[in-house]
Amino acid sequence: TPGWPGIINAYADRIPIPEGATVVTLGEGNTPLLAAPHLSALTGCEVYLKVEGANPTGSFKDRGMTVAITHALASGLQAVICASTGNTSASASAYAARAGLTCAVLVPQGKIALGKLAQAVLHGARILQVDGNFDDCLELARKTAADHPVTLVNSVNPVRLVGQKTAAWEICDVLGRAPDIHCLPVGNAGNITAYWSGYAEYAADGVVETTPRMFGFQASGAAPLVHGAPVSEPETVATAIRVGSPASWEPAVKAKNSSGGIFEAVTDERILAAYRLLASKEGVFVEPASATSVAGLLATAADGRIPRGSTVVCTVTGHGLKDPATALEGNVEVEPLAVDPGAVAAALELV
Ligand code: F0G
Repeated sequence: TPGWPGIINAYADRIPIPEGATVVTLGEGNTPLLAAPHLSALTGCEVYLKVEGANPTGSFKDRGMTVAITHALASGLQAVICASTGNTSASASAYAARAGLTCAVLVPQGKIALGKLAQAVLHGARILQVDGNFDDCLELARKTAADHPVTLVNSVNPVRLVGQKTAAWEICDVLGRAPDIHCLPVGNAGNITAYWSGYAEYAADGVVETTPRMFGFQASGAAPLVHGAPVSEPETVATAIRVGSPASWEPAVKAKNSSGGIFEAVTDERILAAYRLLASKEGVFVEPASATSVAGLLATAADGRIPRGSTVVCTVTGHGLKDPATALEGNVEVEPLAVDPGAVAAALELV
């Protein structure tokens, strides 16, 4: 492949794959680290967005999936399975299609955004809707993989998180240092775990001198890590992080504690406000879950927990096109104005 070779080849010395394995890649990674002038002005910090919606299937999951599917293919098994709130299933379906593997996805009925479902359908996944939430789906996927010849590609598969570390490495490579603070939305808690181990690995190897404080943000209706106890009926507009019992609970707590970070809840109202602000002021269209990191940034900068002048990276985890319904919902100006051909300038108040 000409140009960027995908994360396994770009970080070959840090991502072990089985001897002789064929790398399954769609060119994931190398996503923009975009300066955010509006957020910087609002917070008095130097704010950057790590735009993970720019990955091939529109979310950060591709970084882990290239590694998971490369291993799955090398294992000789013909099928993979995952539970998902949508993005993992979209990513698994695409990489499995590329590798010629069968892919089964378990999703919570009626709770996955339209774009994500469309992806799984077109990539040819076997889609099973479960009358339950993500946590129920994950339990079923784990059981199925334990008893049958099928590879589980959720982030409980450790190779997924190895791939997801690359986002932290890219940030350090581009900035020439680690940020002071890193803000992330947290659902199943794999990504915050992966980022922290990526930063820690770079620091241990002397590539960077410092590590960031990890700020993990959850939606108030689905905030088990903030409360310190599982939530049996998680609820939030940010369906991607509608998770009540995160699989990577312990390593995520360790990431927070070792880095001097925090877990904090943000309301759906603030998530949607950050979602609209990102689109209208920064020109970056993300899905609601992704805006959780920015809602958290705004809250913790406002109350002084983020010192002015800090270098802050917010990961925006998935593309806005994943969830068109939420973009149009409750938007009074959504109905385009009917206009006569001769009246365009007048309608725009240009004359
Ligand atoms: N943002 C988006 C857009 C996600 O899809 C997810 C997780 C997260 C944040 C949280 O990351 O789980 O590593 O803490 N989505 C999973 C899925 C659960 O099934 O696609 P996490």
